[in-house]
Amino acid sequence: MQVKDSVALVTGANGGIGKQFVEELRNLGAARIYVCARTPEKVANLVALDQNRIVPIQLDVTDTKSVNDAAAHCQDVTLLINNAGISLNQGVISAPNLDSARAELEVNYFGMLSMCRAFAPVLKKNGGGTIVNVLSLLARVHLPFSGSYSVSKAAALSMTHGVRAELASQKTLVVAVMPGTVDTDLAKDWPDPKVAPSVVAQVALQAVIDEVEDVYPGQQATEVSAQLLQDPKGVEKYLATFLPTSSLAGIQA
Ligand SMILES: NC(=O)c1ccc[n+]([C@@H]2O[C@H](COP(=O)([O-])OP(=O)(O)OC[C@H]3O[C@@H](n4cnc5c(N)ncnc54)[C@H](OP(=O)(O)O)[C@@H]3O)[C@@H](O)[C@H]2O)c1
Repeated sequence: MQVKDSVALVTGANGGIGKQFVEELRNLGAARIYVCARTPEKVANLVALDQNRIVPIQLDVTDTKSVNDAAAHCQDVTLLINNAGISLNQGVISAPNLDSARAELEVNYFGMLSMCRAFAPVLKKNGGGTIVNVLSLLARVHLPFSGSYSVSKAAALSMTHGVRAELASQKTLVVAVMPGTVDTDLAKDWPDPKVAPSVVAQVALQAVIDEVEDVYPGQQATEVSAQLLQDPKGVEKYLATFLPTSSLAGIQA
């Protein structure tokens, strides 16, 4: 799958990683880039970079009408980048109620699923195309400090496998992107190491070009994914020490 001449759509385009996806798509020669944000004013600076190629779209992934309107409007999409996400840093037991767990599932799981479902026929019409789902290393192993977020990303990873299976016959490539900590607002309270958001976008789009289904951008994600193959219980036990009330200082995974 070539990114050059593709028609891409990026959710959460005003966020730290989203902006870098737009930048990298421009570098790689995408023909058109739909930049989606809940508040379109937040992507005005991106549109100003190249008004011929960059098109703003109002999109809240938790709003079915908003998702369906975007799919109806953007019928030429060949590369869907599901990047929008939230993290509320709550444990599954210590959280005061289920509100944050539900909110994270609404955006990170149901929102992403809703986008995949709405755009599957569009991608089919355009020859198959590609879906990039921005997940997290925490889709593979639970971090109690950010417990309900880990759950939402694990659900989204399983969903990604289902989307991949169901859309294989229409030749849609489905890429799961699983970074460790990334240097964006979402992780502003997290300690180093943090990978640059530009690296996440570059690795994800290279995976599209190379047709690699699962990628772990950055050294932290690469190392932990290797540890998960060798000693999954050890990784689980290590991360289990970072409880919601504890500091994440010193975390290596
Ligand atoms: N930063 C990390 O350490 C890290 C690590 C692994 C994976 N990720 C994943 O990477 C993705 C991008 O995160 P980021 O680090 O770039 O964080 P970010 O800077 O906070 O950006 C998140 C983006 O998602 C958007 N968004 C949130 N809720 C939305 C909704 N209901 N509908 C549409 N857009 C919505 C935000 O829009 P608003 O401005 O309107 O809120 C924002 O544009 C997320 O899926 C995140 O889980 C991040």
